[in-house]
Amino acid sequence: MKILVTGGLGYIGSHTVVELQSEGHEVVVVDNLNNSKIVVKERIVGISGKTFELLVADVNDTEALDGLFQKHVFDGVIHFAAHKAVGESVDLPVMYYQNNVSGLISLLGAMEKHKVSNLIFSSSCTVYGSTEVLPVTESTSIQRAESPYGTTKILCEDIITDYAKHKKFRSILLRYFNPVGAHPSSQIGELPLGVPNNLVPYITQTAAGIRKELTVFGDDYETKDGTCIRDYIHVVDLAKAHVKALEYSTKMSQNVDVFNVGTGNGNTVLEVIKAFEKASGQDLNYKIGPRRGGDIEKIWADTAKVSDVLGWNAQYDINDMMKHAWSWQIGLEK
Ligand code: UFG
Repeated sequence: MKILVTGGLGYIGSHTVVELQSEGHEVVVVDNLNNSKIVVKERIVGISGKTFELLVADVNDTEALDGLFQKHVFDGVIHFAAHKAVGESVDLPVMYYQNNVSGLISLLGAMEKHKVSNLIFSSSCTVYGSTEVLPVTESTSIQRAESPYGTTKILCEDIITDYAKHKKFRSILLRYFNPVGAHPSSQIGELPLGVPNNLVPYITQTAAGIRKELTVFGDDYETKDGTCIRDYIHVVDLAKAHVKALEYSTKMSQNVDVFNVGTGNGNTVLEVIKAFEKASGQDLNYKIGPRRGGDIEKIWADTAKVSDVLGWNAQYDINDMMKHAWSWQIGLEK
């Protein structure tokens, strides 16, 4: 298939381009380089041995998108291009609505005009909010979002679901849990701008001496060691789920389907730190601090549906995730 990948130079996008190419699909990328670097293209080509067309443009640029859709006949689109920092979205909500929601609408406009009817969308487990029912299944109820970022994910899911109901359109919504790690080649990974908000880049930067120490946000939660539980998923496994979703989207009977993409295992913050220490062979400098506002206590995925329907299961465990995250961090400093 010939696939348009928006945000294809970003963290999850770049890994997905590699997996698409390795499965024989042809890829075209549109990326505005807002949170990615042009060098990522060479890195992807270095891993896959296959080049691809890159258009440096914003998905909100309807003329640029139109030109791209005129030039290529796409069999499907994977839409990653979006802002993703929860804290930043609280300060800059309009920027989030503009980029994430308008960006999707602009893309749907181009897809409609050029009769492209398959879309894989990056959603998030953030749509479940704080839930008592664990693990969360795809039918667990959606909560009002706690951040503009979360609101944009819910709005985009709603827009796609509504659009697909009225048009001949097929879409898969992938609700990611916590993507971490990097490609085993250490050629691509996450490039956090400034001080990382997320746990794993903060851990690797602390171990590399870029940050003084990690603060564990709270150890008084009702979990086995008092720290929060998340379902960390290796970015390469997550990328592979997109390829499976894409292939399934061409033959599914319903207009929209939704899948959790996690490992099904929850790890506490302290377990992640221990796994990192084991993988890197060094002690991490950390302290216990107060809870972070807005954090949910625990969440992990029920993965039965993604396993049964898409035939996808995570291959990497938390030790692999830490090993690859650390190799990537070391490589960044060279
Ligand atoms: N944590 C720390 N110290 C840090 C950073 C994080 O203890 O310096 C803890 C958090 O309190 C949390 C866990 O590590 O318990 C994971 O935190 P992250 O910030 O890495 O990830 P979140 O689960 O908060 O957020 C992620 C994505 C969001 C998404 C959300 C859905 O980053 O995009 O999952 O739950 F919306």
